[in-house]
Amino acid sequence: MKTKPIIKKLKFIPNLKNYSSTYKNFDYKKIIKEMTVFPGGKMNLAHTACDQNAMGYRKNKVALYWEGEEGQEMKYTFLEMSQLSNRLGNALKSMEVKKGDRVFLFLPRVPELFVSFLGITKIGAIAGTLFSAFGPQALEDRLQNSGAKVVVTTRELYSRVLKIKKNLPELKKIILIDDWNRVNFMEERKLTKKKAPKDCVWFYELLEKNKQYLRVAQMKPTDPAFMLYTSGTTGKPKGVIHHHQAIVHEMKSAEFVLDIKEDDVYWCTADPGWVTGIAYEILGTWALGASMLVYAGRFSPAKWYDLIQEYRVTVWYTAPTAVRMLAASGASLAKKYNLKSLRHLASVGEPLNPEAVMWGIKAFKLPFHDNYWQTETGGMVIANYPSMKIKPGSMGKPLPGIVAEVVNDKGKSVKPNVEGALVLKPGWPSMMSKIWRRPNKYKKYFEHGWYITGDRAYKDSEGYFWFVGRDDDVIKTAGERVGPFEVESALVSHPKIIEAGVIGKPDPMRGEIIKAFVTLKKGVRPSEALKEQIQQYVKKFLAGHAYPKEIEFMDNLPKTRSGKIMRRMLKAKELGLDMGDTSTLEVF
Ligand code: WTA
Repeated sequence: MKTKPIIKKLKFIPNLKNYSSTYKNFDYKKIIKEMTVFPGGKMNLAHTACDQNAMGYRKNKVALYWEGEEGQEMKYTFLEMSQLSNRLGNALKSMEVKKGDRVFLFLPRVPELFVSFLGITKIGAIAGTLFSAFGPQALEDRLQNSGAKVVVTTRELYSRVLKIKKNLPELKKIILIDDWNRVNFMEERKLTKKKAPKDCVWFYELLEKNKQYLRVAQMKPTDPAFMLYTSGTTGKPKGVIHHHQAIVHEMKSAEFVLDIKEDDVYWCTADPGWVTGIAYEILGTWALGASMLVYAGRFSPAKWYDLIQEYRVTVWYTAPTAVRMLAASGASLAKKYNLKSLRHLASVGEPLNPEAVMWGIKAFKLPFHDNYWQTETGGMVIANYPSMKIKPGSMGKPLPGIVAEVVNDKGKSVKPNVEGALVLKPGWPSMMSKIWRRPNKYKKYFEHGWYITGDRAYKDSEGYFWFVGRDDDVIKTAGERVGPFEVESALVSHPKIIEAGVIGKPDPMRGEIIKAFVTLKKGVRPSEALKEQIQQYVKKFLAGHAYPKEIEFMDNLPKTRSGKIMRRMLKAKELGLDMGDTSTLEVF
């Protein structure tokens, strides 16, 4: 769909008033200097995100409005967040957690996730997050590679950690969240005591025992602060490390793109297992002092509208699949709610089709503003801004402080409207600082002086960037980044499967779905029941969101002479496309 540019009549004064002049005059050096508030040019991102608010005029302002899956409600001020995370920081110290040690959060979106993230980073340890949908294999890969010393989880999820504990020699302690104590602790500091399983301690017992005063670790801006595992085409997931100064770019981008202001109630629908939930729930947006809503329940259009209405959400950051699902539920449903509090909408994670941008106007009288970034970039790099006209379907223009370009194989810029590799000039504050324990993987991101995103794009004559597609086999399903190798490994561990090839198949609602082509062991009869059994197996073994929605049984898979399964061929077959060069092909 080709649509006309949207020229907006804004009902508010945007933080970024003039894109061109801000872009031209922008300098991160000065901002980093301002944000390194400790002597000797030191900082701590948890201090920037939380404590500085707790120490100032925002101390009694609500930092977090939380609504649980069963409708439970909690509120935490910046001061409470600061004190709770101090207690956890002290508890970790008493467990001998030192600077640079890894502490992982295997949690649904509970308030303790936010408390823990802050507590870990305050003592200079590295906080890692894991989706609660992960099964034992996904957990083992990540906890083993990271060498996590402590894991924070819930009683329900604990059983999955227990299954793999024997393979995690570096894991020393598990902190269990006892949610029956949440309300009591906040109101009376009175706990219901129960015995914790072996090697486990109760979260709230730790908070009760430890002091609420903590000397925050003063860190170099380039010291590691948090890590996320993400997928590439080959190999196991990579541990992307971000440093303390990431918050500098996350805060400025939240100011420019999300347009966060003092009285905003901000809702980001992302899970902190994903980089968006860290950069724009815990860090950038809190650094600006926004009150944030977190909803731990599942997606439901009626519930989502109800939340916007009840909490009077003003700025809403979500993902294209969610927008398309809301659109499918009809604008008339949206009209049943009072959603007038909304003033600015943004979206990230996968291509935002023009129809989805326009649907925002139909349902909320506001367009969705697309923006583009990656786990590795630590923050937004290309975006649409409130003050700039939107060309529906375009990702927008580079953030102030970011140089983006479209280049050919030799790293040279191509002409406007010509497709090429999307690259960035290294050195912005939130650029990942390493891949954990895999230095060669890190080096591969850089070529001809550019950081290579792995995406293809073109830039039009007005400097707007347009997404074309991935340059590799990485799958994006409902915004989640899934590595085909991880799914293939899970499939071949199934007793009835010999080989598997996995691709992303275009899907109008979810962007892509995961499709697997598998060959079965001799004598195994293909059937619909077996497909379902395989799907359930991957769901449990790997992750709830990474199972193949479609499975096709094959006699053979296309392979190169060296035996590598050619996903490119499988994709071409699926889409009915030309197979391209098949000279190196062994079988099909
Ligand atoms: C894709 C997400 C099109 C892209 C924060 C990128 C997008 C990958 C957009 C990173 C967008 C992200 N339009 N594609 N606005 N935003 N992508 O690491 O392929 O989960 O490389 O981080 O998502 O995914 P990740």
